[in-house]
Amino acid sequence: MLDLSRFPRVALIDAPTPIQPLDGLSRHFGDALNGVRLFVKRDDLGPVGGGGNKLRKLEFLLGQARADGADTVITVGALQSNHARLTAAAAARCGFRCELFLTRSVPRDDADYTGNGNRLLHALFGARVHLLPGDADSLAAAKARAGELESEGRRVAVFPSGGSSPLGCLGYAACAAEILDQSAAMGLDFAQVVTANGSSGTHAGLVAGFAALGHDPRLAKSYTVLAPLEDARRITFEKAEATADLLGVSIPEDAIVIDGDHRRDGYGIPTEGMLEAVRLMATTEGLLLDPVYSGKAFAGLLADVRAGAYRPGDAVLFLMTGGVPGLFAYRGVFASA
Ligand SMILES: Cc1ncc(COP(=O)(O)O)c(C=O)c1O
Repeated sequence: MLDLSRFPRVALIDAPTPIQPLDGLSRHFGDALNGVRLFVKRDDLGPVGGGGNKLRKLEFLLGQARADGADTVITVGALQSNHARLTAAAAARCGFRCELFLTRSVPRDDADYTGNGNRLLHALFGARVHLLPGDADSLAAAKARAGELESEGRRVAVFPSGGSSPLGCLGYAACAAEILDQSAAMGLDFAQVVTANGSSGTHAGLVAGFAALGHDPRLAKSYTVLAPLEDARRITFEKAEATADLLGVSIPEDAIVIDGDHRRDGYGIPTEGMLEAVRLMATTEGLLLDPVYSGKAFAGLLADVRAGAYRPGDAVLFLMTGGVPGLFAYRGVFASA
């Protein structure tokens, strides 16, 4: 059992989130899946802000902010950040003011990207938004703003990109425990738990959680969509180690299983594989992946299954991490492809 009771927490998800088989996709592929059984864990089904993986991290981040007496939270992200959206929504729900520092890190300035999707929702959830150029140090700007607000008497909590501090990563250590409980109840022994890797906290938290529960942390595998492979491996290891430290365990050097083949031209740049994955999940399952994270990760999983990376009968769990509003920022890409 993973005892996280000493960490302050607010309730933002209805755990456990369901695990479901991908029957429609399996019917579509037939023998091409080599007998591999695919499942999804519905972390996209959160009850706040449209749902998504950031809610698990925000349970701990906002719990600590509340315990510290904060009245304002500030975070950073890309212009279409899902993390910024969910921070704004959860802050609204929990009674914090929220400010967002968003960088133009994807080379697009069309109206869908700059005004629709998550950008529309950041404003709707009442956050004050500061826009920065792509190469700006948004965390430094956020900290400077926090200093300014504190000099006016406010108490401010600053969350890093993706909410992936060790405390935030605990949300995915809790998810690791949830997955092990659910798989035991379902009589399944997952060969792999698969996720997208952006700020690395989801993967890092899973690794720390599996290690703390005596399981092989290599059960978790991610596809990087942001940092190049070796940077992503190093960052994920550092975050997993820091999170494991909070849990009083250590992780082995080779704990991080990560793939760099599906990031392609970089963060937020569409790929053929992503387009195929998003369409397939929509048309065979009625489920929505997102164009920046889960679409590329699911494309990676499909490529691995097709390449025979799993044995017949293996059960593989894909984490649905949300990000649906991002689809509206990529309307033109789907319309023209
Ligand atoms: C929809 C979605 N999926 C996956 C991720 C990746 O999670 P992490 O940043 O913890 O690596 C993100 C992060 O921004 C996201 O918004």
